[in-house]
Amino acid sequence: MLIGCGKMGHAMLDGWLANGIAPSVIMDRHLETVPKPHRIIRDTASLPEDFSPEFIVLAVKPAGADAALAELGPRFPQAVVLSVMAGRTLASLTAHGAPTAIRAMPNTPASIGKGMTVACPGPGISETQRIRCSDLLEAVGDVAWIEEEDALATITAISGSGPAYLFLLSELMEKAGIEQGLPEDLARLLARKTLSGAGALLDSSPMAAAELRRAVTSPNGTTQSALDALMAEDAWPRSVRNAIDAATHRARELAS
Ligand SMILES: NC(=O)c1ccc[n+]([C@@H]2O[C@H](COP(=O)([O-])OP(=O)(O)OC[C@H]3O[C@@H](n4cnc5c(N)ncnc54)[C@H](OP(=O)(O)O)[C@@H]3O)[C@@H](O)[C@H]2O)c1
Repeated sequence: MLIGCGKMGHAMLDGWLANGIAPSVIMDRHLETVPKPHRIIRDTASLPEDFSPEFIVLAVKPAGADAALAELGPRFPQAVVLSVMAGRTLASLTAHGAPTAIRAMPNTPASIGKGMTVACPGPGISETQRIRCSDLLEAVGDVAWIEEEDALATITAISGSGPAYLFLLSELMEKAGIEQGLPEDLARLLARKTLSGAGALLDSSPMAAAELRRAVTSPNGTTQSALDALMAEDAWPRSVRNAIDAATHRARELAS
């Protein structure tokens, strides 16, 4: 069962549908259609009679979760609550009614099967449940497990929020190209294809990012000129560190 089909819930649902493992019941207030035999319900009053979910995937904003958890937790004590909510701790999930819980931090490339999810098991999660959860998450990309829940704040800052950093870079490269006189559509194409192509190369290469960077940087060439500007200590090294610190701090603030 999936609760919440907004940006993240939909990203995961798209990945699950493509892999034929979508949840049988999707509870969301806005979703209009889903291929059969999956079904959409608007609230818990419409749950099927003989329903017994193995997982209850919570992909709502934290404020939307408590009432659903308080009702569904006691009703389905065998179910594992798989929460992708940023900042909702395992202790809070069980305090609000989850029988057992796994916290996970996915990211939106899950919608095209290229997600990166990190999961952390709560007390009482069996090895079998962990494997079943991995199967679910691997349908939408790569999965790593951690045992220390505290690390999820940093993980949220890097992989959870990370796609937005790349989208910003694409915007900025496009803008710089237009400012230097390129047609808008060409500037956009160059920025997008360069980032997606370099991302695919990074993903498929055994080389470290720094080695790949050095391999495309000729001494005193154009790339070197750009990297000198970007790698100055008060440029990208500081900006990226500050950005990750700010996001980690916010993830900790949100933790409840
Ligand atoms: N977006 C990301 O990149 C990302 C990455 C990692 C983790 N997350 C986590 O994923 C969660 C969802 O984020 P999002 O960006 O997908 O939010 P979102 O786009 O607002 O989606 C949440 C959806 O769930 C619906 N909903 C809320 N409470 C519900 C309930 N009780 N029953 C049925 N439907 C309900 C909302 O409807 P209403 O609008 O009517 O409330 C909305 O359609 C958050 O906790 C976030 O921390 C997001």
